Amino acid sequence: MLLVQLSDLHIGSQFRPKTFAKVVQEVNDLKPDAIIITGDLTNEGLINEYKECKKLVSKLKTKKIITISGNHDYRNTGYLAFKKFFPFETINELGSDIVLVTLGTARPDRNEGEVGYRQNLWLERTMIKYKDRVKILAMHHHLVGIPDTGSDRVTAIDAGDVLRTILQTNVDIVLCGHKHRPWVWNFGNLQIVNAGTVSSERVRGLFENTYNIITIKGKKVAVDLKIVGGQRTPLENIVKNYSQFGQE
Ligand SMILES: [Fe+2]
Ligand SMILES: [Fe+2]
Repeated sequence: MLLVQLSDLHIGSQFRPKTFAKVVQEVNDLKPDAIIITGDLTNEGLINEYKECKKLVSKLKTKKIITISGNHDYRNTGYLAFKKFFPFETINELGSDIVLVTLGTARPDRNEGEVGYRQNLWLERTMIKYKDRVKILAMHHHLVGIPDTGSDRVTAIDAGDVLRTILQTNVDIVLCGHKHRPWVWNFGNLQIVNAGTVSSERVRGLFENTYNIITIKGKKVAVDLKIVGGQRTPLENIVKNYSQFGQE
């Protein structure tokens, strides 16, 4: 199973159309089984941005595209448009061995995320139901702080409750966006992956547009970082070869 994670497209100002065109070409060549887009598809949640985004995302060729909203998508009443342009399922069975569950963390006109008591309870019940599968959780806001990204006030405000649920239900991998800084935290059987921005000028820490390529074989989940137009490397190398001025 090959999965691609794109994040933080930010269609609108600071969007790089040529970079995204390259992404479409590269991702289509990979022939992924599914693509997950982890939020901030638009920059300001405006209808024209959603229209353009729909057009661009439809160039990606795969069986399933799963989209979740980010804080930028919810600006300017964008939460109404998101539902219309990108209807999505929260539980996605990928084959018979894998499930990808999404959480909605964006709230109208707020930059910080929130999962909420009820959604967290729902997450717990859902993951228990799929206990024999490889369990992927996707959310826009990050769960754990990331280097080179300054203040951490814009995380999911109830991250602790969600982390407890994730560990208790043996989630294998969490896919986050939001901070535009590619990173991975390995906690034994759990890896928390953060995607960079795939097509926005607002790159952080690693000054390239990137996306993630996730390969699942049996119970084994491997994540590679792909620099748009550049090298592919295991994401953990970003942590191992850490440098404050990008990759060494
Ligand atoms: Fe973003
Ligand atoms: Fe965001």
